Amino acid sequence: MRQIGTWSRLVTVTGLCVLGACAGPGPFGIFVDSTKDCAEMFLQRDIQTVAKIREQRFLGKVSDTTARCLGGKRAESLREGPWLDWPNYWAAGDATSLTPARLLAHAKVIGPNAHGINGALYELELQRIELIKFNLFDNNKTYEAYVTGRNGEAGPVLNTWPEMRLPQSHPDFKSVGGDQTQVCRGELIRFRTLTGTCNDIRNPLMGSTHQLFARNVEFNSTFPDLGLNEMTKNRHGDRVGLLKPDPQIISRKLFTRAQSQPDRCRDGYGLPGGAKEAECEYKKAPFFNVLAAFWVQFMTHDWFAHLEEGHNRPEWMAVGCATQLVKNIEQPLTGAGVEKLGCRPDDRIDVASIAEGTEPRSFTQGGKTYLTRAPKTTANQVTAWWDASQLYGYDERSGKRVKRDPKDPAKLLLMPVREGTSASDKLGYLPVFEPGDPINPEWSGQEATAFPDNWSIGTSFYHNVFAREHNAFVDEFRKQATRTPDGDSGLRNPANPDYIIRYRDVTPNELFEVSRLVVAAEIAKIHTIEWTTQLLYNEPLNRGMNANWSGVFAKQEVVADALKEVVRRLDDTNDAKKANSLYAALASGPGIFGLGNRVYDGVPLVGLIDPDKQDRWDLKNDDHINGGVNHFGSPFNFPEEFITVYRLHPLLPDLIEYREWNKEPNVIRYRVPVIETFRGKATKAMRQKGLANWALSMGRQRLGALTLQNHPLFLQNLKMPRLQSSTQQIDVAALDLIRDRERGVPRYNEFRRQYGLKQMTSFDDFVDTRLPQDSPARGEQEQLVNTLREVYGQHQCDASKKITEAQLNDDGSPINDCLGHPHGSLIDNIEDVDTVVGWLAEFRRPHGFAISETQFVVFILNASRRLFSDRFFTASFRPEFYSTLGVEWVTNNGPGPEMMEQGAPNGHEQQVSPMKRVLLRTMPELAGELQGVVNAFDPWARDRGEYYSLDWKARAGAEGDEAFANKKK
Ligand code: HEM
Repeated sequence: MRQIGTWSRLVTVTGLCVLGACAGPGPFGIFVDSTKDCAEMFLQRDIQTVAKIREQRFLGKVSDTTARCLGGKRAESLREGPWLDWPNYWAAGDATSLTPARLLAHAKVIGPNAHGINGALYELELQRIELIKFNLFDNNKTYEAYVTGRNGEAGPVLNTWPEMRLPQSHPDFKSVGGDQTQVCRGELIRFRTLTGTCNDIRNPLMGSTHQLFARNVEFNSTFPDLGLNEMTKNRHGDRVGLLKPDPQIISRKLFTRAQSQPDRCRDGYGLPGGAKEAECEYKKAPFFNVLAAFWVQFMTHDWFAHLEEGHNRPEWMAVGCATQLVKNIEQPLTGAGVEKLGCRPDDRIDVASIAEGTEPRSFTQGGKTYLTRAPKTTANQVTAWWDASQLYGYDERSGKRVKRDPKDPAKLLLMPVREGTSASDKLGYLPVFEPGDPINPEWSGQEATAFPDNWSIGTSFYHNVFAREHNAFVDEFRKQATRTPDGDSGLRNPANPDYIIRYRDVTPNELFEVSRLVVAAEIAKIHTIEWTTQLLYNEPLNRGMNANWSGVFAKQEVVADALKEVVRRLDDTNDAKKANSLYAALASGPGIFGLGNRVYDGVPLVGLIDPDKQDRWDLKNDDHINGGVNHFGSPFNFPEEFITVYRLHPLLPDLIEYREWNKEPNVIRYRVPVIETFRGKATKAMRQKGLANWALSMGRQRLGALTLQNHPLFLQNLKMPRLQSSTQQIDVAALDLIRDRERGVPRYNEFRRQYGLKQMTSFDDFVDTRLPQDSPARGEQEQLVNTLREVYGQHQCDASKKITEAQLNDDGSPINDCLGHPHGSLIDNIEDVDTVVGWLAEFRRPHGFAISETQFVVFILNASRRLFSDRFFTASFRPEFYSTLGVEWVTNNGPGPEMMEQGAPNGHEQQVSPMKRVLLRTMPELAGELQGVVNAFDPWARDRGEYYSLDWKARAGAEGDEAFANKKK
């Protein structure tokens, strides 16, 4: 373990303090009540600190002493293997993880449970800081400056880039300064622009439509299939390629949902008329519902898209079902083999679009050679910002698909199309695309919105809900305008900053844009503190995510403000590494949201305790407007690797258990195939059955677990008339692998090493050894491990071949092809495993994690970056942009004062959750059903039980719900 220097000590103490762990006197307050192990840990200085170099980074593993201090003997006994240690700490799981010791068991800041949680939070923070330090690789030609610095300034603190200037051809080129220094001002910075320019006022192009995806892994580790350097050749030999191992074979053997009665499922297409007798079995996650599955698809459509208008390059390629490994030798698949597996050799798909495919330039620094970008790059066809672009548009064409209400252009057009029985039906439904709308033919008949691809009842649901939410905000604003027409709306026009905009002055167009800002911020809040806390259902993550949003000091404004100021000022320091580390750590205190949106004079901490302190934030000051953002030296866009870990197709069930809210919600009436709601078919399904019934149905149903052999059958057999093949079908599960290979995502083991996680050394590492040897679950895992071995194969290893530069062995030696096994032995081809396959095979997970730890580490970095980089979530979250009502709406989850949830779920007093409030506003008839719901993404009829329970047990009143009748189903 490394020694703690003064600087590291500061980060450590600060990290622990901001994470709420400071208690009592002494430099390490957390340990004042320490047990023997904690004392030992401190005395031996056994605390991991921020690594100076990549090879020394924290791999999520701690010493015996630390494990015992933070999680007792159990945590110590579970340290074996590649997995993170913190999930075994006190209080990081369900009630059984709470300390048995009575003394201090319930204390919030001291005692074993507090040690466990704070230890976990500290390690998560450390990981985030190291991810920021070691995993940012921009493809937009700024990487060289990141490594070498510019004009004496270190790369990681650079905050403007010439590559982020608007080009001469851009219509706003002149307005932002033309050939001179470019700064966005006036109308350009008032609202979120259609194409996402001018979010950062000094980097107009950043995050806008068509910018290149970044990477989180070293450029020379990408595109391993091309064998461009010695390391990737050593790692994979000649065993990998675009169709190697065969993606359809992987899909059929490792992704297919087994069915005991296939004729009741019919490849996910169900029974005619949505008959209830249909059955498609799937592995379910008990603590996450189908609403959560479609929510994340709705989010991804906002963040990224590789396809332009639903298409790739007009060039068609084969997609496998051609070869398989037989005893480690690749052999052609026979007709009988094809039949047995059910794959389709005649499927074809259009080739992925590549932005730049020429050989990248390289440069040297400190004796080391670097590539300036990845060997190929791809473009994000939507804005990278969390700006609700799936609803409002991301370019001119998509913008034209958004229909406003001609009677009130501040509103989105919603039509009273349904003579339903629901109170909310009068709020209306989205209109359907009309002839002349700029769409692909395959989208005709769909409801009109900016991002219409891969549409189904799930996307229809969210687009309708948030269109209603948009209009609800407009209505409330108008009510206020009627009450106080001459009152100050809080809004200001940066082009005329001194002019007070009264309610009566606000134009419909301005109100539309304000409403967009509010809806986008609300969505970001729902995702951060409601969806993610249910996806990662345990106490450390609940605290961590809330800290990301509002900070651990949310209720202690003075401290929060003080920290915000410190953080803001640290941005100015020249010491790049320290600045970035400290910035990220300290941001946990005040939260990222709203960072820099107040500015005070004088010495930050002392000044803030003064009750008369004055907020000096000024719309005329560029530094104030832009002051909260931090890109850590690398312009923001999602990395290619982020898309990989969002390939979450197993979340989808094949059939939706349809219920009705006003006719005994415990009864499942139909089993509606998702595919029967695909594209234009969603419109009829939505209008016939109504928003509230779909909310109830998807709210009560469990989603699919992210694990092997659990992909929806309908996606493996998706019919798409646009495909130029005899089958006109595609296996989306296989396509997930092909796309990652086309875009050069490193395969699983190197992916983990690059992100600072321990590597696997054989397929057996996947088995959850905490399970009893003879348990059926362990038996199934062992079977799957055998299938992995069959599909990916084994080879005789060569210890002379170094395979990575990302990490070293524990003894400091290079990692070689044998992964610790003797030279010449037959080892598993674990290096070749596709990343999606690898993370689906992670059977061992932190408590309450719907995702694997590999996906999680990608989220830690990018989820906070997408807040840190966005002006509208940091310094510009102000009434000048959002209006006073808008700021209150986002802060309080809707109009009026804050509403609190009953009781203290999992020990916390909390606001009525933001998504629950949205559902109550847009579907008031669900008030009864939602009464006991604490998190809209937890199955609505589940009894949440004790501390982070995952039990599948009905809540009072839902005992008769069929979903609880047969727990195995
Ligand atoms: C009815 C539901 C869905 C359908 C029909 C569907 C279909 C598809 C298809 C056909 C593609 C491949 C596009 C290509 O590369 O050519 C795709 C990509 C993708 N899907 Fe889905 N999907 C559905 C739901 C979901 C859900 C719930 C998620 C969860 C996050 C998801 C995440 C993704 C991601 C991340 C990609 C890659 C996008 C990109 O390359 O930019 N999808 N989907």
